[in-house]
Amino acid sequence: MSAATRPDPETLVLAAVALTALNPIEQAPRGTDADSDSPDHDETLDIRLDAEALRIRAEATPKRELTMLEARSISAWFGDHKVLDRVSLTMEAGKITALIGPSGCGKSTFLRILNRMHEMIPSAALAGEVLLDGEDIYAAKRRLTDARRDIGMVFQKPNPFPGMSIYENVVSGLKLTGVRSGRDAKDSLVEECLIKAGLWKEVRDRLRQPGGGLSGGQQQRLCIARSLAVRPKVLLMDEPCSALDPTSTRVIEETMLELAHEVTIVIVTHNMQQAQRVSDNCAFFLASQGTPGGIVEHGDTGVMFDSPTDSRTFDYVNGRFG
Ligand SMILES: Nc1ncnc2c1ncn2[C@@H]1O[C@H](COP(=O)(O)OP(=O)(O)OP(=O)(O)O)[C@@H](O)[C@H]1O
Ligand SMILES: [Mg+2]
Repeated sequence: MSAATRPDPETLVLAAVALTALNPIEQAPRGTDADSDSPDHDETLDIRLDAEALRIRAEATPKRELTMLEARSISAWFGDHKVLDRVSLTMEAGKITALIGPSGCGKSTFLRILNRMHEMIPSAALAGEVLLDGEDIYAAKRRLTDARRDIGMVFQKPNPFPGMSIYENVVSGLKLTGVRSGRDAKDSLVEECLIKAGLWKEVRDRLRQPGGGLSGGQQQRLCIARSLAVRPKVLLMDEPCSALDPTSTRVIEETMLELAHEVTIVIVTHNMQQAQRVSDNCAFFLASQGTPGGIVEHGDTGVMFDSPTDSRTFDYVNGRFG
């Protein structure tokens, strides 16, 4: 679009609001979800409309540089037990990187090291560097809270604050990171994050109800919305769909693909179809016969699945072990 024809930000926000108002779901009586229950209801359309509203909003928001995350020679221990040995991996900016590999090979440990959660475990130690756009998050001058704000985490089991309202769940991260904002800014942030997490349509009429009252898939999307509220540069996801049904999984995968336009994503998954559906790049971890985990092979996901260079990768992605 040329500069001459580009609408100003206010017009774009108004267009987003108008588009939401056009959404037929909006016309359902408050407190009911009649359209969702109808046999003709097309969930894909809802997701597309939310995505379109989001796109228009995003155009009105100042653009931010996408962030690259780079792990250099990471080793990790629990007491005397070495579980990762000199793992290096570049997680490209604005891409989705999938970490795959059999149980116990160190994927979650690696992920926790990427946002300084490993150091919270008694007896845990590590060596190496994690560079966020070239700056080591473990450097003495870097604060733990900075790493936590910049690099969000979504876990396997959805963990919203169950007694806290949906609204409060989304903004809860702001307090933890010391960000203050007014009521209007919070309202708009809650809406934005819930749209991005693909949950807005389902909860917009019950924002004051407890987060614990949502389904598992909805709770996971609430956790994604909560992570997004502090505007992370990177989002780490440890098997985020393993406890979810296929429909919720599909919605979260759609959400991830949308989010990758503005956040760098790293996902651990045991689901090979999911790795192929969502990721741009893939890293295959393996810990053979009691040795510490390491990366056997990494690169473009299509290549990793169609023509890997290592026979162990071929066997793993084709379900021959693990
Ligand atoms: N808190 C802990 N204390 C001691 N050892 C641990 C701890 N967490 C993980 N380990 C060990 O570290 C190794 C790597 O575990 P990790 O959880 O990172 O593997 P994973 O690849 O994520 O496995 P899975 O696919 O089953 O989730 C394993 O040998 C595990 O037993
Ligand atoms: Mg794990």
